[in-house]
Amino acid sequence: MSLDSNTEKALTPIRSLNDKDNMNDRPFLVKDKVKGMGKNGRAFLSLLIGDKTGHIDARVWDRVDEISEAFEIGDIILVKGQVQVYLSRKQIIIHKVEKAQAEQFNKEDFTIEDKKIDAHALYSELIQMVNQIESAPIRQLILDSLQDEEIKPLILKAPAAKTIHHAHRGGLLEHVVSICKLMKMISSHYAFLNQDLLMFGAIFHDLGKVWELDIQKEQIQYSHKGRLLGHMQLACELIDKKAQRILGFPEDLREIMKHIVLSHHGKLEYGSPVRPYFMEAFMVAMIDDLDSKVDTIQGFIESERQTGESWSRYNENFERYFFLENLKGRWT
Ligand SMILES: [Fe+2]
Ligand SMILES: [Fe+2]
Repeated sequence: MSLDSNTEKALTPIRSLNDKDNMNDRPFLVKDKVKGMGKNGRAFLSLLIGDKTGHIDARVWDRVDEISEAFEIGDIILVKGQVQVYLSRKQIIIHKVEKAQAEQFNKEDFTIEDKKIDAHALYSELIQMVNQIESAPIRQLILDSLQDEEIKPLILKAPAAKTIHHAHRGGLLEHVVSICKLMKMISSHYAFLNQDLLMFGAIFHDLGKVWELDIQKEQIQYSHKGRLLGHMQLACELIDKKAQRILGFPEDLREIMKHIVLSHHGKLEYGSPVRPYFMEAFMVAMIDDLDSKVDTIQGFIESERQTGESWSRYNENFERYFFLENLKGRWT
């Protein structure tokens, strides 16, 4: 097998692949693998494969079972096949696949640079905003939590979610700071809202995730504690723990805080034990939803733009194709 060509020269970026281009043991990372059944009852294998330059759909029509068993999602495979344009999107029709050995590809072709976040800068920006909170018990409880010796290092590296949004180190801080800024705008527009409670919700709603999610070997995993209790319960325990140590902490404020945390998924079917029962709790649920969706959709669109197509592949989560053209600054 002549593989030297793979390891010595740079791979053609995926967006530059053209109709009828032949793949001759080109290495790809398997990002998704699903077995399907065609209208004619014929089984096929649908793959999403790629490298650091992007990704492309691929299909296997022959010897489906045998080929499917040869590799898993996350493996690097060597592909023989041809690029084909189908319904105006490029895909690779795979004739032969084998799992690649370490010396058969360049690791750098598959390492996606971690999104660079300055977690320490975000943390101090957050503390500055917390210092502006007018209510002494709210401010104190948040500061005691963020500056807790156990919690601070966890916040600096926590992702906000396992796969969907802000799923990288520091992602939780990024999500929290983003919501805090939105809350400032919202409370200056809707003047009847309690800004301090909105800031509390922005910071505390997902804070339990510092214990819920674990980054190990670059993989984000749920911890036992996280699975057994969930991030809302973990945040409520933190509220109790910190409130107990603040002299004269108002009992009704503790309940209001817990309600904001417990209701932030908005609906019972999304995992909240209660729905939001006052305006500030509603806002936290809505703005959390907004910020996580913006991050998810924008991330999807940016990665799909690497294909060079005008429309994205079908997004199961949002049940649609997205239009990929950048409209910012057009017609000005
Ligand atoms: Fe949450
Ligand atoms: Fe959130």
